[in-house]
Amino acid sequence: MVNFFTTAVGIFRRLFNLLIALAYILGFVIWLTIRDLYYCIANLFFPRRHVGSVVPSDHRGHGGVWPEFKAPIQGSDSRSPCPALNALANHDILPRSGKHIGYKQLSHAIQHAYNLAPSLADQLTASAYLLDHGRGWIDLQDLNALNVVQHDASFTRPDIAFCPDQSVPHPDLVDKFLSHASNGKSLSLDDIVYYSGLRRAECKRTNGQYSMTWSFLHQFFGSGNCALMYSIFGGDVTDLRVWLIEERFPDQWEPKNREAFGHTIAQAMSTSLTIEFNINEKQKLRPEDTAAHEAGKP
Ligand code: HEM
Repeated sequence: MVNFFTTAVGIFRRLFNLLIALAYILGFVIWLTIRDLYYCIANLFFPRRHVGSVVPSDHRGHGGVWPEFKAPIQGSDSRSPCPALNALANHDILPRSGKHIGYKQLSHAIQHAYNLAPSLADQLTASAYLLDHGRGWIDLQDLNALNVVQHDASFTRPDIAFCPDQSVPHPDLVDKFLSHASNGKSLSLDDIVYYSGLRRAECKRTNGQYSMTWSFLHQFFGSGNCALMYSIFGGDVTDLRVWLIEERFPDQWEPKNREAFGHTIAQAMSTSLTIEFNINEKQKLRPEDTAAHEAGKP
C-alpha cells in the first residue's frame, strides 16, 4: 500500500542509486584522465608515426589498404548517425550487419582506424553506454535516439523532426557543408566554426522542435564531432566527401593525425572547446549565405 513510509523508501532508493552512479562516473573520469595524461606525455617524447604507417601493420587499413567496401543493405543492416562508425561497418572492421557490437570491439576499432589514444577511444565508446540498458552491446541504429548522443543541427542529416531515419547521410547537406571551405580544398577551423553557427541558426529558425538551444552537452557533442573530423581528416574536402557521403574510406587514405600514441582526450577537448566558444549564431553571413537567407532557403 502506498503511504509516507513507502514514499520515503522510494526517495532513499533513488538517491542511493544516484550516488552509486556518480561514484562510478567519477572513478571512470579519474581513470581516463590519468591514462590520457600518460599518452599526452608519451606523445611529447616519441616521434610521430610515419606516413603510410599511421594504422599499425597488424591492423586492417595499414598503408591505406582497407578491407572491401560494401554499401549497407537497407532494411536489414543497422546503421547510425555517425559516419565514423558506419564506415567501419561498411568495410567490415565492425560487423557489416552493424548489430550486437561490444564495447571492447568498438573501442579497438576506432582506436586503430582513426589513430586515437586508447583513453579517447574509451571515452567516445562510453557515450554508447548511455543507450545500453544493461545489455553490454549496441546495434548501430540505437545511436539514433534523439538527445542521448544524437542531436539536432548535424552537418550530414536533417533534424530528426524532418527525418526520423538518422542512419543515412544526405549528400546535398554534406555538399553544402563542404562548399564552405574558403580555399575550396580544405576546411579550416574558421570555416568549421562559421558553418556550425550557420547550421545551428538555420535549424533553430526552421525546426519548431529544435532542441539544442539549452543543451550545452549536445552543443559540445556537435563541436566534438567537428574537432575529430578536423584533426583526423585535416579538413580535406575530397576525402571528407567520400567519407561523409558514401561512408567509405578513400583509397590509400589514412588518418592525418600521426601521434605515436594516438590523438588524446586533451587534444580533442581543446579543439572542441575552441570551436564551441567561437560559434556565433548571429554572425555576419558570407555573401553567398546572405543571398540564400534572403531568398528564405533553409
Ligand atoms: C564509439 C564511438 C562513437 C560513438 C558512440 C559516436 C556516436 C555518434 C553519434 C550518435 C553521432 C550523431 C550526432 C549528430 O546528431 O550529429 C555522431 C556523429 C558524428 N561522429 Fe561519431 N561516434 C563515435 C566515434 C566517432 C569517431 C572516432 C569519429 C571521428 C573519426 C566520429 C565522428 C563523427 C562526426 C564527424 C559526426 C557528425 C556527423 C554530422 O554532423 O552529421 N565519431 N557520432
